[in-house]
Amino acid sequence: MTYREDRGQLLLGVARGAILVCAAVLLVLSAAGPADSATEDTAFLVAKGRVTYRVYCINCHGAKAKGDGTLAELLTVKPTDLTVLTQENNGTFPADRVMRSVDGREEVRGHGMKEMPVWGDVFQTSGAEPSGDDETAEERAIRKIRELVLYLDSIQVE
Ligand code: HEC
Repeated sequence: MTYREDRGQLLLGVARGAILVCAAVLLVLSAAGPADSATEDTAFLVAKGRVTYRVYCINCHGAKAKGDGTLAELLTVKPTDLTVLTQENNGTFPADRVMRSVDGREEVRGHGMKEMPVWGDVFQTSGAEPSGDDETAEERAIRKIRELVLYLDSIQVE
């Protein structure tokens, strides 16, 4: 091989290497991308749920969600300790049930939920955060309950 051919081969090799590295970086980025933004999205929703909790739930369920809010002693039924929902459900967070009992518009109420406000109604009408044009009152209520449920999921004890 002449010097020139040698150099050509070398450059080709370098170029191939660079392309491979780029491809690898792209692969890693595309693999990590969606997962990262999903985690970020969840963290954002949990944060929103936490804010809603502090506005609407803290008085009964308490700052640590142990069921010891300032209004708790005025109630005939003690507010549930919301940090042990997973523990009491064999290690799985009962998201669907919590969703329904917080919403409260379904018959779950019949099974003893007497003191808890029906949040499915409250979140439809509450003016604190009016629904945008792209969201109906029902969608808004469901969204806020879902955010609350994600927040509750995030505070479960081991
Ligand atoms: C007026 C007091 C009060 C407020 C405010 C309140 N709760 Fe409750 N909550 C209760 C009581 C009392 C219970 C126990 C069941 C009952 O209603 O008799 C309960 C039960 C629960 C349960 C247990 C349901 C289950 O499936 O085990 C969840 C979850 C819950 N509350 C979530 C919330 C959330 C989220 C908020 C805020 C949006 C909230 N609560 C606000 C009083 C309250």
